[in-house]
Amino acid sequence: MNLTDLSASLRDCERCRLSSGRTQVVFGIGNPQASIMFVGEAPGFYEDRQGEPFVGAAGKLLTELLQSIGLTRSDIYIANVIKCRPPNNRDPLPDEIETCKPFLLQQIEFIRPKLVCTLGNFATQTLLEKKVGITKVRGQVIRMPQFLVFPLLHPAAALHQGNLRGPLLEDFKKLKLVLDGMDKESQKSPTQKSQAIPQPLAESKKDTPAETPVQMDLF
Ligand code: URA
Repeated sequence: MNLTDLSASLRDCERCRLSSGRTQVVFGIGNPQASIMFVGEAPGFYEDRQGEPFVGAAGKLLTELLQSIGLTRSDIYIANVIKCRPPNNRDPLPDEIETCKPFLLQQIEFIRPKLVCTLGNFATQTLLEKKVGITKVRGQVIRMPQFLVFPLLHPAAALHQGNLRGPLLEDFKKLKLVLDGMDKESQKSPTQKSQAIPQPLAESKKDTPAETPVQMDLF
């Protein structure tokens, strides 16, 4: 099984109620060898029509934000937690997330990105396996057993609340620093490589990330 097989296996998926209202399954798109993967929430109207994630207004903003840090969409892979459009773009329900999550995890396994950038609460909470607010964890590298997560605000949130545009830009600037740091780290010889120094855990127990935030040696 590879990424293409997985996509084909989901084309006629009827595991949850969302199959009845969708035009098509929106599996994911981009570079299957990407070292950076972005994960959004669920397809919206245009994504459902075109079969590609992030092709509407939020997608346009995402493309601009990527460009602002020297990336294009062909450098990355993009998918959503939920592969089918919820009716009227409502929030995904917990059972829909549970049903679709294994396929997101398989996508990550096949792509093996160095960093998984989660956009907004749903993607962040799904991959951190914890009900943690995006505003608490955004801009931190968080180590999960199989991959590193970097949560960012969702571009759609910045479209609805103009005051989030600045913070979203900041998240992308931080992402650039993290990626540059990772590049430097990967160019070092094995003996030069530093051990990542864990940051102290956040104060609130309820809202802490599932795993320890990682301090890359550039900070
Ligand atoms: N488009 C997507 O594909 N995903 C989102 O989360 C929002 C818009």
